[in-house]
Amino acid sequence: MEPLNLDELEGLARARLPADIWDFIQGGAGGEWTLAAAAAQYRRHVLRPRVLVDVSRCDTTVHLLGDELAAPIGVAPMAYHQLAHPEGESATARAAGAAGALFVVSIFAGRTLEEIAAAATGPLWLQLYWLRRREFLAELAERAERAGYRALVLTVDAPKVARRLRDIRNSFALPSDVNAVNLDPALTATAHRRTAGGSGIEAHSREQFDATIGWADLAWLRERSALPLVLKGVLTAEDAALAVAHGVDALVVSNHGGRQLDGAIPALAALPEVVAAVPDGFPVLLDGGVRRGTDVLTALALGARAVLVGRPVLWGLAHAGAAGVGTVLDLLRTELTEAMVLAGRPTLAHLDPTALAPWPRGGP
Ligand code: FNR
Repeated sequence: MEPLNLDELEGLARARLPADIWDFIQGGAGGEWTLAAAAAQYRRHVLRPRVLVDVSRCDTTVHLLGDELAAPIGVAPMAYHQLAHPEGESATARAAGAAGALFVVSIFAGRTLEEIAAAATGPLWLQLYWLRRREFLAELAERAERAGYRALVLTVDAPKVARRLRDIRNSFALPSDVNAVNLDPALTATAHRRTAGGSGIEAHSREQFDATIGWADLAWLRERSALPLVLKGVLTAEDAALAVAHGVDALVVSNHGGRQLDGAIPALAALPEVVAAVPDGFPVLLDGGVRRGTDVLTALALGARAVLVGRPVLWGLAHAGAAGVGTVLDLLRTELTEAMVLAGRPTLAHLDPTALAPWPRGGP
C-alpha cells in the first residue's frame, strides 16, 4: 500500500522497525508532554481562505542563505539514519536532492560527509553539537566547507541529552553496525554500550557534550569557518535578539521534537515572539510536529521562512529507503500547494497572519 498522507506512513514504518528503535525515534523526554503539545498546537489555528483569487499558478519556491529551494520544506538533522535503512543518509540525500529540498546532516550521521555530498544534488547544511573535544568541531567544519556544505547549524538546546524514559526502560544502545563515522570511534563507544536502567545515548552525551559553552564561544566557531552559522533550538525573543547581536545568520525555532526540555513551549507557539525579535527578512525556520501541508502553511503564516521535518523522514526511510523519503517530501509539498490554492494564497508572499484565526473557543 502506498501511503496517502504521513499518518498512514507512520503505521507502515512502525511495522518494519524493532520496538526499541521505534521508541528511540518516536520518543520524547520525560512525560512526553511537549511532544504531545507539538501536534496539538497546529490544531489551535484555523485557516481563513480568500476566494476569487487567480490560483492557476502556485509558487512554493523559497530562497534560504543563498540557495533556491523548490519548497519551504527541508529535512531536520537526525542522528543515525541507518537505524531506519541500511543506506542511511546517502538515501536521504538523494531523495532531498530530487525534491529540491534542504537536507541538514547530523554530526552523528552514519555516512561520511563526503559520501553524503556525493549523493546530494541539493543544498546540505551540517549540524553540530558542541563537543568537549573542540578539535573535532574544527575538523568537521573544515571538511563540510570543502565538501560544499552551505551552512553550519549549531544545536543549542542540548547541553546533555534529556532523560528519555523509553530509551532508559529499553536500555537503548546503538547497534554495533551503526556508527558516527565522521567522528573518532572512541568518542561514541559509550553510545554502543548497553547498561541496565540507562540509555547509552544519554550517557554518551554526558561524557562528550560541552555544557560550559556560552554566547562568547560562537566566535571560536566563526573563526574556523566562513560558512553561515545557524542556531537550532531557540524558543525565546531574548535568545533570538542575542543571536542576532552575535552575528548568527539564521535560527531554527525548535524544542528538538519534544526530546529535550519536557514542558518547553511548542515551537509554533514560540515562533511569533522570535520573528518579532529579529530584523525583517532574517531567516527563521521552525521544526516540530509538521505532518501535513496545512501545518507548513500555518508556520509560514506565522513568519517561518521554511520548516524542517524530522521523524517522518525516518518513517519514509524505513518504509522504502530513498523512495520513501521522496514520498514524504512530495506529499508535504503536494498538500502545501493544495492548501495554498484552496486558501486563495498562491505564493509564499501571500502567507501572513491574516491567513489564520484562533480555533473558536481555544481548540478542537
Ligand atoms: C533528532 N533531532 C536531532 N536534532 C539535532 O540537532 N541533532 C541530532 O542529531 C538529532 N537527532 C535526532 C534523532 C531522532 C531520531 C529524532 C526524532 C530527532 C531533532 C530534530 O532535528 C528535530 O528537531 C525534531 O525531530 C523535529 O520534530 P519532528 O518533525 O520529529 O516532530
